[in-house]
Amino acid sequence: MEQNLESTEDPQEERLVSPEIQEREASFDVALRPKTLSDFIGQPVVKENLRIFIEAAKGRKEPCDHVLLYGPPGLGKTTLAHVIANEMGSNVRITSGPALERVGDLAAILTNLEEGDILFIDEIHRMNRSIEEVLYPAMEDFALDLIIGKGPTARTLRLDLKRFTIIGATTRLSMLSAPLRDRFGMHFHLDFYGKDEMREILRRSSGLLSLFLEERPLELIAERSRRTPRIGNRLLKRVRDYGQVMAGGILDEIVVDKALAALEIDTLGLDEADRRVLKAVIEKFQGGPVGLSTLSASTSEEMETLEEVIEPFLLQQGLLSRTLRGRVATDLAYKHLGFTPPERQGTILS
Ligand SMILES: Nc1ncnc2c1ncn2[C@@H]1O[C@H](COP(=O)(O)OP(=O)(O)OP(=O)(O)O)[C@@H](O)[C@H]1O
Ligand SMILES: [Mg+2]
Repeated sequence: MEQNLESTEDPQEERLVSPEIQEREASFDVALRPKTLSDFIGQPVVKENLRIFIEAAKGRKEPCDHVLLYGPPGLGKTTLAHVIANEMGSNVRITSGPALERVGDLAAILTNLEEGDILFIDEIHRMNRSIEEVLYPAMEDFALDLIIGKGPTARTLRLDLKRFTIIGATTRLSMLSAPLRDRFGMHFHLDFYGKDEMREILRRSSGLLSLFLEERPLELIAERSRRTPRIGNRLLKRVRDYGQVMAGGILDEIVVDKALAALEIDTLGLDEADRRVLKAVIEKFQGGPVGLSTLSASTSEEMETLEEVIEPFLLQQGLLSRTLRGRVATDLAYKHLGFTPPERQGTILS
């Protein structure tokens, strides 16, 4: 049984390069999702550890230990949770931190789990503390401590649960409390994908969509995908649409290049908003340092969007750097946008 309670709020809904899932692409996302470990591309260390761990649990005929998956959005946490369930031959129930509002919500789910079932809790960092405390004994002792009644007559009731596995996913490991983190026997960090891995993911996806793309067109899409499978798949879909309408379904290098140009995503995966911010730092503030609020005012991007959406990727790509006095455009940013980097003194970028 599957119950999907994905959150729908999405601050960056309109951006083609947003790593978050967008409302209309859910079914597409599921269709392209690898089902087995061997289908899952990249993340070799995670995969190898999981393979051993799953095989060991199966050999002992025991449910596997609780697993925590963490890393940026769109890299495959939900996918991996399903892969683990599939490889274990387990049923998976899906919920999320914000969906569990009351202790009763969690209790109802836990008491209905069968031996070996997997409960996937997405955005587990957003679970509230009172629910988290109910989860501790459930994870450790497979027991649920419920308080019945109120005041002096209140008593606790301990319910035994079947042995199950929790797979938690989070984009923010630091927001997870230490006691919760410690109750997961296995922690796996998903990292951004390499260029070759992205190409392989896109090759696989295009196969599933019955598209034929040569290496070079795949590479063009891969390099604009921000090393994130969800973005890669989304671009592939847009390229497919473009090819279908403008080129009779042919997706060669020229068509793909034109399609991507029409989407205004450059070779580093930057879109118009990213470039506008970088350009502002360079042109209006001589490369910085500039404070976030000033930058926000001059680019008419909201502070929050700037800080949570645009800036992280620019920092990660080494286009922007953060100093005590504000944001600074790096030499790479100057070159990427066709400007000449300024002469700098000292270690302003360190
Ligand atoms: N290793 C991979 N190989 C092939 N495709 C992948 C891989 N990882 C992710 N994908 C694809 O990317 C899409 C997004 O992955 P997924 O939904 O698992 O990301 P997520 O980490 O759960 O993101 P979020 O934090 O937003 O929930 C999936 O539909 C899947 O098709
Ligand atoms: Mg997910």
